[in-house]
Amino acid sequence: MKIIKSLSEMHQLRKQYTSSQQSIGFVPTMGYLHEGHVQLMKQAKQENDLVVVSIFVNPLQFGPNEDFERYPRDEQRDIQCAKAAGVDVAFFPQVEEMYQEEHSVIMQVQRRVQVLCGAKREGHFDGVVTVLTKLFHLVAPTRVYFGMKDAQQVAVVDALLTDYHFPISLCAVPTVREEDGLAKSSRNVYLSQEERAEAPSIYQALQHGQQLIQSGNKHVKQIVEEVTRFIKGHTRGKIDYVDILSYPQLETIDTIDRKIIIAVAVQFQQARLIDNVVINEH
Ligand code: PAJ
Repeated sequence: MKIIKSLSEMHQLRKQYTSSQQSIGFVPTMGYLHEGHVQLMKQAKQENDLVVVSIFVNPLQFGPNEDFERYPRDEQRDIQCAKAAGVDVAFFPQVEEMYQEEHSVIMQVQRRVQVLCGAKREGHFDGVVTVLTKLFHLVAPTRVYFGMKDAQQVAVVDALLTDYHFPISLCAVPTVREEDGLAKSSRNVYLSQEERAEAPSIYQALQHGQQLIQSGNKHVKQIVEEVTRFIKGHTRGKIDYVDILSYPQLETIDTIDRKIIIAVAVQFQQARLIDNVVINEH
């Protein structure tokens, strides 16, 4: 596995593989890799000649009171993990090179961000599309891999690729979970023992909502109330949001009559956890 740290090396490598017409599967990450990330890498490996993973904790997508400084990092472990997953190139851009000067041109997401995490984390998705635009230009992938764990991110990347005519296919990979249902996340390490024990009830609440829909309840308000009640009854975390929206447009609806997402965010003492289910039947 090649380890690349400078943009000029990435540029050289990109020239090589584009001239040899190899397909590139690209997995952007912020590191502290776990099985969720590995699943994206494995799928990329199956579908492409080469797999590139980027590991970059992007300062631009963290708010002033968020966890940029203490976001978990472990470069050596990440290298071993990427190698074991069959990755060909691990790309570690350096923050000084990625963000050399103040931006003269700013990217701002207009739709799909007034809800869920976008509403709670101002500027977050502007930071995400900015770094992804840079990375997509640097890596020039054939396909990009994103996890449905961050379903709003998938919806925003989908809009970015369409609006800016990137010749890149978006592959959305199902959420990888712990055995007890908790969605794998780099932030799970922040949970206390008690919180970790309660956290699986977030997914149970989503499944409860899904069952209500599958048994014929079409009322968004009622299902949101039920999911909220379930989480409140089973965790001491503070609910940040519970919402049901159309997917991937993320528009408010009253009745479940199209593809929808049930999405939740729960704030524990040191960790904010998000999870969702997308349901395609009505
Ligand atoms: P990060 O949180 O490191 O996640 C990288 C990718 O792994 C994302 O596409 C995310 O959805 C996926 N992922 C995380 N946990 C997952 C799980 N349990 N199952 C499946 N996929 C999972 O998302 C980011 O980084 C950043 O915003 C980034 C896109 C790299 C831009 O900076």
